[in-house]
Amino acid sequence: MEKKSISGFSKLSKGEKVRWVVEHFFQDPEQAAQELVSFWHKDDELQRIVDGFSENTISNYYLPFGIAPNFLVNGKIYAVPMVIEESSVVAAASSAAKYWMSRGGFKAEVISTKKLGQVHFSWKGDVQKLYSYFGELEARLRQDAIHLTQNMELRGGGVLDIELLDMSQLEPDYYQLKVSFETCDSMGANFINSVLEEFGSTLQIFVQEHPAFEGDERHLEVIMAILSNYTPECIVRASVECPIEELATGGKDPMSPQEFVEKFAKAVRIAHIDPHRATTHNKGIFNGVDAVVLATANDFRAIEACGHTYAARDGQYRSLSHCSIENGIFRFWLDLPLALGTVGGLTRLHPIARRSLELLGNPSAAELMGIIAATGLAQNFAAVRSLVTTGIQKGHMKMHLMNILNHLEANGEEAREAIEHFKDKVVSYTAVREFLDSFRECKNA
Ligand code: MEV
Repeated sequence: MEKKSISGFSKLSKGEKVRWVVEHFFQDPEQAAQELVSFWHKDDELQRIVDGFSENTISNYYLPFGIAPNFLVNGKIYAVPMVIEESSVVAAASSAAKYWMSRGGFKAEVISTKKLGQVHFSWKGDVQKLYSYFGELEARLRQDAIHLTQNMELRGGGVLDIELLDMSQLEPDYYQLKVSFETCDSMGANFINSVLEEFGSTLQIFVQEHPAFEGDERHLEVIMAILSNYTPECIVRASVECPIEELATGGKDPMSPQEFVEKFAKAVRIAHIDPHRATTHNKGIFNGVDAVVLATANDFRAIEACGHTYAARDGQYRSLSHCSIENGIFRFWLDLPLALGTVGGLTRLHPIARRSLELLGNPSAAELMGIIAATGLAQNFAAVRSLVTTGIQKGHMKMHLMNILNHLEANGEEAREAIEHFKDKVVSYTAVREFLDSFRECKNA
C-alpha cells in the first residue's frame, strides 16, 4: 500500500512539508510545489507572522478583501471591509447601504456585553453543604484569580457573577459554576478560559482544605472549564425604518411601496415559521456578518455557532431579523449576539485586519458590534428585496457569467461579446461554452 501517513510531519521544515505533500498526493508534484510556494509572501517576516497563526502551514489561502462603502450607522459613515469568496455579497451590501443612507441610515444599539463561561463538575456529596458554603467559595474563587483579573478590572471589566447550578436532574451528580464576565474591547477567550481553569483548581483546593468538607475530596471531580460561545447577553440590535411611501422598488416592473413592504414582511414571517427558509434567510445575514468578522480577524466560528443557537432559543430555529409595518412606518431589525474583540487575538497581528480596523476608525468592540449587525441587516434586506422582486438569479448570473468566462479562459473581446449576448438570456455553463466555441470558430474561419 502506498504510504500516505507520516509521523513527525510537524518537525519538517516548511519546504520539506511541501515536498512530502506534493510527492504523496499530487499527480504533478513539481508544478504543485511551485504553485503552493508561489503563494508564500515575498516578505519573509510577514510570512513568519502568518505561519505563526496556525500549525503545519505549507502556503497561504487567498480570499478577496472588498469594501462596502456608504454605511451610515448611528450618524457616522463607514466604508466596511469584507472578506468573502461569494460573488454579489459585497455588491448587495453596498447597494443596501446606499439605499438606507438616503433614508436615515442604520441605528445600532448595544443591549448588553456579558460573556459566559462554565466550570462543569461532578459532586457526589451533600448538595446542601455545597450551597451553604458557596458564599465562602465564591470569595475564595475571586481571591485566587486576582492575578488574572486585576488588569481586566483596571480596564473596567472582570468577573461579574458566579452562580452554582444544580444540573443533577439532567445528568447524575452534575453541577456547574456559571460565570459571567465583562471583557471590554477584547473578545476575552484566553482571559475567560484562564480564569475558569483557575476556578476549577480553587474549587478542588477549597474542598480539600475546608474543615467542613473533610473526607469530601473523593466526591468532587472537575470535568472541564471552558467559556461558552453562546452569549445571549452580548447582544446588539441594528435597525432601519422609514415611511412606507419612501420604499419604491424601481426597475422595469416596479411594485407599489405598499405591495413591496407587505410582500417583504410576509417573507420575513415565513422565515420565522419555517426552519428551512429560516436557515437560508439567516445564512444571508451571516454573508454580511462573517465577512466583516473575518476582515477584522474575529472568530467567525464562534459568531456563527452563537447566532444559530440564539436563532433557536425558543426551541425552533427562526429568522434572526424582524419586520413591522405600523402607522405607515416600515421597520426592519436584527438582534444578534456578537462576542467580538478589537484588541488582542489576531486583531492587531494580522496586517490586513489591522487595516480593516483602521478603516473603521479603530472602533471599540461595542461600536464594531453595531457595524457588523448593520452589515448583516443590510445583506438580509438586499437578499429579501431581490427575492420578493426580481428574484436572486438576475444579479448572481452576471457574476456567474464572469466566473464561467474566466474558467473557459475567455479573452477581453470574447468576454465583452458574451456579456452583450447573455444580457437577455439564461446563463449556463453549456450555453456559455457553446457561445464561445461558435464565436471562436467564426473568428478563425
Ligand atoms: C445566498 O448566499 C444568500 C441568500 O440565499 C439569502 C436568502 O435567501 O435570504 C440569497
